[in-house]
Amino acid sequence: MALLNKQVLLAQRPTRKIQSTDFKIVETPLPALADNEVLVKIAHISLDPAMRGWMNAGTTYIRGVEIGEVMRAFVAGTVAESKHPDFKEGDTVAGTMGAQAYAIVPGKYLTKVDATKVPLSWYVGILGMPGMTSYFGLLEKGLPKEGETLLVSGAAGMVGSLVGQIAKIKGLKVIGIAGGKEKCDSLITDYGFDAAIDYKNIDNIAKAIRAAAPNGIDIYFDNVGGEILDAALLNLANHARVVICGAISQYNETNYVGLKNYMKLISARGTLSGIIVLDYFDRAAECITQLSQWLASGKIKYKEHTEQGLDRFAEVLNMLFTGENKGKLVLNV
Ligand SMILES: NC(=O)c1ccc[n+]([C@@H]2O[C@H](COP(=O)([O-])OP(=O)(O)OC[C@H]3O[C@@H](n4cnc5c(N)ncnc54)[C@H](OP(=O)(O)O)[C@@H]3O)[C@@H](O)[C@H]2O)c1
Repeated sequence: MALLNKQVLLAQRPTRKIQSTDFKIVETPLPALADNEVLVKIAHISLDPAMRGWMNAGTTYIRGVEIGEVMRAFVAGTVAESKHPDFKEGDTVAGTMGAQAYAIVPGKYLTKVDATKVPLSWYVGILGMPGMTSYFGLLEKGLPKEGETLLVSGAAGMVGSLVGQIAKIKGLKVIGIAGGKEKCDSLITDYGFDAAIDYKNIDNIAKAIRAAAPNGIDIYFDNVGGEILDAALLNLANHARVVICGAISQYNETNYVGLKNYMKLISARGTLSGIIVLDYFDRAAECITQLSQWLASGKIKYKEHTEQGLDRFAEVLNMLFTGENKGKLVLNV
C-alpha cells in the first residue's frame, strides 16, 4: 500500500494577519519514484517571516506560492528511498522541499548534510538559510570594523542574535532591540551583547538608542523596519552602513510606513543597502565551516524554539509576528 503524505497547501491569500483558513491540510498517497528522484522523510520545517511575503500574489525576489500549491519551506530530513546514484536510504539532507511530511525531489535539488556532530534541525537554522543571512548580511553589507558600534533589531531572534554575536567576535560594541524583559536580559547574559533596548516598554526609541550609543551607530542591521528603522536613522554616525534585511513590522500591513528620517543619510554620508540571502547560496560551505567552528568553540550560542505538528502550521507561523518565538522557530513534523 502506498505511503500517505500530509501536506500544507496554500488555500487563500491573507489580507493582513495569517489565519488558519489560509492553509488546507491534506493527506494524499505518495506516487512511485521516477529515475533520479529521492523520497525524503521530513523531520524539521523552518518557519520564516519571509513565508508571509511568499503567500502574496506576484513575484518579488521570488515568485509567490500559487493557491493549491504546497507551502514553500526550507526543510531537513532523511532519505527514505532513492533512485538517484548520489543518495541512499538514511542519508540526511536539506533543501526547499515544502511544508509536508514527505517530499519527492530530483536529487540535483538536494544537499547532503552531516548530522553526526550537530542536530539535523540546525541545517534549517544557524547552518542553513537564516544563518547565512546573518553571516553574509553583516560581513558583506555591514562591513564591520573593530571598535565600531552596531545596532540590531529583532535582536533576540534567529538572524538578529547571530548578527550581534558575530559583531562581538569582530570586536564591535553591540546594542540589540527586542521585545520584553526576558528577551532583553538574554541578549546580555546569553549572547554577550553590551546593551539591550526593550522597544515594547519604552516611549522614545530614538532617545534610548542615543543613550546607549552617544557617538552614534556605525552599522544598523534592520530586521523590523517601520518606526524602529526611523529611530535608528536619527542616530547614524558618519559613514554609517544601514543593512535592510527584513521589515517584519510591515509584513502584515497594507499601508507601509515610509521613512521620515532618511535625510540623516545625507548628513552622515551613510549608505542603505538591501540583502537577499539567495545571492550567497553558492558560498554556503564557507559560512557553514566558519559558523560550525564558532559553535564548537562556544563563541556563539544558538537557541531553537521547536513546536510540533503540521496541523498547527498557521498557529505556529504566527508566533513570529507576536514575538512568542524565543529563538529560531522550527516546526517538527
Ligand atoms: N533578506 C533576507 O534574505 C532574509 C533572510 C532571512 C530572514 N530575513 C529577515 O530577517 C528578519 C528576522 O528573521 P528571523 O527568521 O530571524 O525571525 P526571528 O527574529 O527569529 O523572529 C521574528 C521576531 O520579530 C520580532 N517582531 C515581530 N513583529 C515585530 C514588530 N512589529 N516590531 C518589531 N519586532 C517584531 C519578534 O521579536 P520581539 O519579541 O523582539 O518583538 C519576533 O520574535 C525578518 O524580517 C526576516 O524577514 C531576511
